[in-house]
Amino acid sequence: MVAPHPSWTPRSSVDPPAAPLGSAPPRHVAIVMDGNGRWATSRGLPRAAGHTAGERALLDVVAGAAEIGIRYLTVFAFSTENWNRPPAERRFLMTLFRRGLRTRRDALHAHGVRIRWLGQHSKLPPQLVTELEATERLTAGNTGLTLALCLNYGSRSELVDAARRIAEDATAGSLDAAALDSQTVARYLYAPDLPDVDLFIRSAGEQRVSNFLLWQCAYAEFVFVDALWPDFNRRHLRQAVAAYASRNRTFGTVNDPQPLPRAARG
Ligand code: FPP
Repeated sequence: MVAPHPSWTPRSSVDPPAAPLGSAPPRHVAIVMDGNGRWATSRGLPRAAGHTAGERALLDVVAGAAEIGIRYLTVFAFSTENWNRPPAERRFLMTLFRRGLRTRRDALHAHGVRIRWLGQHSKLPPQLVTELEATERLTAGNTGLTLALCLNYGSRSELVDAARRIAEDATAGSLDAAALDSQTVARYLYAPDLPDVDLFIRSAGEQRVSNFLLWQCAYAEFVFVDALWPDFNRRHLRQAVAAYASRNRTFGTVNDPQPLPRAARG
């Protein structure tokens, strides 16, 4: 048993223990962490303060996800579209990611969390890429929660990259284009071992996908939460998981097939 690290005792750990969920948790939860800027602006603070508070919220949610028994948590930290933000905010975020990885990874590692990075190298500061790769290496053998950070990530770019590699392999003769199916395509994604997303959560009251895990969310359940991301914590996660547990997932089929009316039978 690993002693709790100080940075693994986030804010809501002082709350009373939550009620049991009553059913199996979703295996893979994906979160769009939205509302950092609004959180800061509403307090008269610079947007950067919202991102800093958002990083703390993420730590609490990671701890909460591990508590619930979620196996995979994928979060949208920086999209390929986020390069359009003002240069000072971009620089701040890159530094926040680098420092966050450096200061949090030992605690996360001690708790068996495996950290993955999904995204493109291009445009990222080399020091951040070094930290991401070092963190992936450090935690590669962990068997607890997998935390996937989507950083410089866009789902369409991921699919374009996959299509390019598929075309290359087909041209080289190592892939039979005629036999291509969805399982083969999935093997060309950035992290082919990640299962499909079961539960997609977005904070800050927005109801958009924003180019996040389009392929992996084909059968995800969507839960939209009004709380701004810095206010989001493990209790919000539990509520979203409870909402998920109440859904009827049919994957395009029917749970309780009724006999067809006589007129409809062939
Ligand atoms: C979106 O809110 C948030 C981001 C673009 C950054 C998310 C980053 C974190 C929560 C920090 C994660 C830290 C590590 C170490 C991975 P917004 O700025 O778009 O908010 P707004 O819509 O209110 O302006």
